[in-house]
Amino acid sequence: MIATLFVVFAFASSALGDCPVPPTVPGADIGKIAGRWYEIAGPTAHQISPNLTCITEDFTLRKDGNFNLTVLSTFQNGSKHVEYGLAGRTDAQNSLNLYPMGYKTPYLLTFYIADTDYDNYLAAYACYTDAGLSTIQGGLILSRTNTMSADKYAELIDLLVNKIGVSSDSVGPIVQRGCKYWPVLQ
Ligand SMILES: *[C@@H]1O[C@H](CO)[C@@H](O)[C@H](O)[C@H]1NC(C)=O
Ligand SMILES: *[C@@H]1O[C@H](CO)[C@@H](O)[C@H](O)[C@H]1NC(C)=O
Ligand SMILES: *[C@@H]1O[C@H](CO)[C@@H](O)[C@H](O)[C@H]1NC(C)=O
Repeated sequence: MIATLFVVFAFASSALGDCPVPPTVPGADIGKIAGRWYEIAGPTAHQISPNLTCITEDFTLRKDGNFNLTVLSTFQNGSKHVEYGLAGRTDAQNSLNLYPMGYKTPYLLTFYIADTDYDNYLAAYACYTDAGLSTIQGGLILSRTNTMSADKYAELIDLLVNKIGVSSDSVGPIVQRGCKYWPVLQ
C-alpha cells in the first residue's frame, strides 16, 4: 500500500513539475527568428496535427516588435492547412508566448528556445501553464532548409528528450519530402 502511494506520488510530482527555463544566451537576439523555418520534428503526426506533412513556420516581424506566426502544412489529400498565431516577446531573449489567432485559451503556452544559431537550426519546447503549474507540452526542431543532417538531428533530439525531459513521443519526425510549399499570404 505504502509502496503504491509512493509510486503514484513520484509520478504525479514529475508530471506536474515546473518547466525548465533555459539560461539566456547573452547578446542573443530573438529578432533573428524572423523568416521561414521547416519543421523537421514536432509533436508527432497522430497527436496535435493529425497526418499533416510539409509543415513550415513563418515568423513575421510586426511593428510592435512581436511576430505573426503562420503555420502552413499539407493534408494527406494535398489540401492546404493553415494556422495563425501571435508570438509575443517576453522579458527573455529565448522565449516567446504563443497566442492562437481568433480564439482565447485559458492557459499560457510558452515556447522556450533550447538551442539555435538562427541561421541553420533551432530546437525548442513548448510549456503550458495552467493554474500556476507548467508542464512540457512538446518539442520542436526547425531548420532553415527542409532537411537536417542525421548528426544534428540526433544531437537536438538528445538535448530535448534526455537533457530537458520532453517526452520522446511528443517530438517525432515530420515528413518533408515531395512537398509543394505554400507562400505566406497576408
Ligand atoms: C491519418 O492517416 C491514417 C492512415 O492513412 C488514417 O487511418 C487516419 O484516419 C488519419 N487520421 C486523421 C485524423 O485524418
Ligand atoms: C499580422 O497579422 C494581423 C492579423 O492577421 C495582420 O492584420 C497584420 O497585417 C499582420 N502583420 C504583419 C507584419 O504581417
Ligand atoms: C482533405 O482532408 C482534410 C482533412 O481530412 C479535409 O478537411 C479536407 O476537406 C480535404 N480536402 C479535400 C479537397 O478533399
